[in-house]
Amino acid sequence: MPWLCVEVQREFVDAGARNRGRLFLRSACQHRDCFAQERPHAAIVAPRTLIDIRCRRPPRSRRVSGGAVTNTDPILAEQLAYYRARAREYDKWFRREGLHDLGEERNARWRLELDRVFAALDAFASRGDVLELAYGTGEWTLRLAESATTVVGVDAAPEMRELALAKLQDAGKRNVELRVDDLFSWQPDQAFDVVFFAFWLSHVPENQADRFWRSVHDALRPGGRFFLVDAARAVPERNVVHGSQLADRDSATEFRRLEDGRAFRIIKRSLEPDRLARDLREHGLDVSAVETGEFFVHGLGRRA
Ligand SMILES: C[S@@+](CC[C@H](N)C(=O)[O-])C[C@H]1O[C@@H](n2cnc3c(N)ncnc32)[C@H](O)[C@@H]1O
Repeated sequence: MPWLCVEVQREFVDAGARNRGRLFLRSACQHRDCFAQERPHAAIVAPRTLIDIRCRRPPRSRRVSGGAVTNTDPILAEQLAYYRARAREYDKWFRREGLHDLGEERNARWRLELDRVFAALDAFASRGDVLELAYGTGEWTLRLAESATTVVGVDAAPEMRELALAKLQDAGKRNVELRVDDLFSWQPDQAFDVVFFAFWLSHVPENQADRFWRSVHDALRPGGRFFLVDAARAVPERNVVHGSQLADRDSATEFRRLEDGRAFRIIKRSLEPDRLARDLREHGLDVSAVETGEFFVHGLGRRA
């Protein structure tokens, strides 16, 4: 039976038999009441303590939830679980290998368009204090660290952090601090000159978009700038499970699989430059966004 390492969400005070074990973690494993079964008599546990719980029951399905950062929304928890599990194979997406191989011609096209995004980011020149949201394996972090004074990154997957740190260390970058936190509850504790996010906005559900843009606005110094890049539209990739009953276009969810066959539900919204510009104006942010052709949309803007 698997042991799961989970993070306690808030202090648990044993307030009598009725409440025992109930105040803890939700997305520790797929069975939300596992903790209550396994540790009914814990008296006081500080928030953010890591504890092990044992799950006695078999998984409900091959879909998994949970993470070092707990999120009580099941799909956001599952999305995070997906990226945690995918961390070691993530860079194959950049390299267009394995499940991400689109064939020679389209791989070349993809790289050409990616180079256009890199060129746009170089021209943007991320100077000063830079905040990177959802840094992943650090591919973009390396670029940001070239021109920035400091880079602070926030991502909820410790597995991603480990990989990103190794890359930064190999490249001798010392001006980067990588944090592990849940961007759906994280609040900036300092102001930045630049906020950068790659392939993150499309994973923010519609009902969180307002909060997200407010946090970008609040993280920027007046006049501060942001740069975003994301998928222009759903690129038919082999890691997307097609024809699944479970995927749901209306709620912008998609099923993704890993090399080992495990499948996870994630949020995937497509971005359209004009709509983006309209939404952002409402948040006091000006943006100019363009598509690179088939694969990417990138944009830059400024806090008024
Ligand atoms: C599509 S990847 C993008 C990674 C990187 N920016 C890139 O372009 O390669 C999405 C990233 O979001 C992170 N993530 C997922 N859920 C998160 C959450 N709730 N809070 C913070 N980061 C999260 C994942 O760990 C993953 O690194």
